[in-house]
Amino acid sequence: MSKSVVLVGTQWGDEGKGKVVDLLTEVASVVVRFQGGHNAGHTVVIGSKRYVLHLLPSGALRRDVTCIIGNGVVVAPDALLQEIGEIEEHGIAIRERLKLSPGAPLILPFHARVDQAREARKGEARIGTTGRGIGPAYEDKIARRALRAGDLTDPQKVREQVEALGEYYNFLLVRYFDQSAVDLVALTDRLLHQAEQLVPFLADVPALLDASYQGSESILFEGAQGVWLDIDHGTYPFVTSSNTGVAAASSGTGFPVTRFDRVIGVAKAYTTRVGSGPFPTELFDETGRHLAKTGAEFGATTGRARRCGWFDAVATRRACTMNGIDGLCVTKLDVLDGLPELKLCVGYGDDAAFGRWPDSSSELEFEVMAGWEGSTAGVTDRGQLPAEANAYLDRLEELVGVPIDLISTGADRDETIVLRHPFD
Ligand code: GDP
Ligand code: IMO
Ligand code: MG
Repeated sequence: MSKSVVLVGTQWGDEGKGKVVDLLTEVASVVVRFQGGHNAGHTVVIGSKRYVLHLLPSGALRRDVTCIIGNGVVVAPDALLQEIGEIEEHGIAIRERLKLSPGAPLILPFHARVDQAREARKGEARIGTTGRGIGPAYEDKIARRALRAGDLTDPQKVREQVEALGEYYNFLLVRYFDQSAVDLVALTDRLLHQAEQLVPFLADVPALLDASYQGSESILFEGAQGVWLDIDHGTYPFVTSSNTGVAAASSGTGFPVTRFDRVIGVAKAYTTRVGSGPFPTELFDETGRHLAKTGAEFGATTGRARRCGWFDAVATRRACTMNGIDGLCVTKLDVLDGLPELKLCVGYGDDAAFGRWPDSSSELEFEVMAGWEGSTAGVTDRGQLPAEANAYLDRLEELVGVPIDLISTGADRDETIVLRHPFD
């Protein structure tokens, strides 16, 4: 039996991680976010209700699951408290079971303002960030000047840090970007007020995880974004500002790498990306528009249209190799229903050298597979899938080189084919 499972996105984010995490927390009793911030948008559909989680781990909707936000996450107090309020409005109590690492750096309003100002200044060359202040907050962490969640216990430290950081960011905003300054007095007051609500969540996360592990509880580590948005290994500079792979599940929580039992990767049955940057299999034709429409490919955080394309077996295979992924969760199979033929990218042609990503106009190598006429929507038994859908999945599995554990055929937690449960 696996006790600790890391789940990461294997593409450019939005693979359906939220749905899979929600499903797996039927078994896991602890779920941990270890990187990213409220740039993430993880959708969970339960019956007629749709929830989008940004900072809270996607296990939050199961009332007995402990939800942990690790030191690797950058936390915006405004966003966290708003999300807690929203989930409480749905009648779900979260405060007693939410734990926050004192080491988590805080995202403050000037981080978001500078993120947005930089993007606006870049114009066409922009990264297409979520504008949430993720990059600047991680910069402060690395520069060893961040205000961290644990500092909220010390009002004097809050005042001093906000003033020191605020002075720097206001200089940038006013003198460099020609914008208005952030009101630091009002910000400090609000933060001290928010501290009263946030301090009770603070917990010794490494000790908590160790105790859970020793006590034979099942722990799920929930990745945000995807492998190709990783700051080191992704399509730099069109990436996010954190490591999004399996190693961050250890560095972002204080849980030892030697205790991860399994690493599973979530991949859409096709590919999407939001924001700028290389996307080899991107489609600009009717098929691309069909995928966007059928898959409702609009960002869960910013509402932006996602770019769509064929499944990229080259990139996904490499994502799995780099992260030691030993089980694949293939999502949104139903979105491919009715397409006459499907393509799997199996080679990058002359642009084979990694480190130089091909663009969508490159001579990529594809395998063409037959589509299917019947519907896969809501199917829960692999035997009920059309033969062509099974053939597509078999070939995808072979090309990626990792067994498929789980196939998702709809947004609802019940619309899933479980072949091998990751916690078995
Ligand atoms: P995440 O960021 O990886 O958690 O993914 P998002 O929530 O941003 O985007 C995935 C979208 O696809 C959400 O709207 C989900 O409700 C939806 N979704 C997940 N799995 C499936 C599936 O198998 N079929 C369909 N049609 N939708 C799905
Ligand atoms: P989930 O967890 C998809 C993208 C942004 C942009 C780049 C940098 O829902 O899969 P940032 O605001 O992080 O500095 O933006 O990363 N991005 C995501 N794309 N899903 C996400 O999260 C993303 N989080 C960030 O669009 O291209
Ligand atoms: Mg998302």
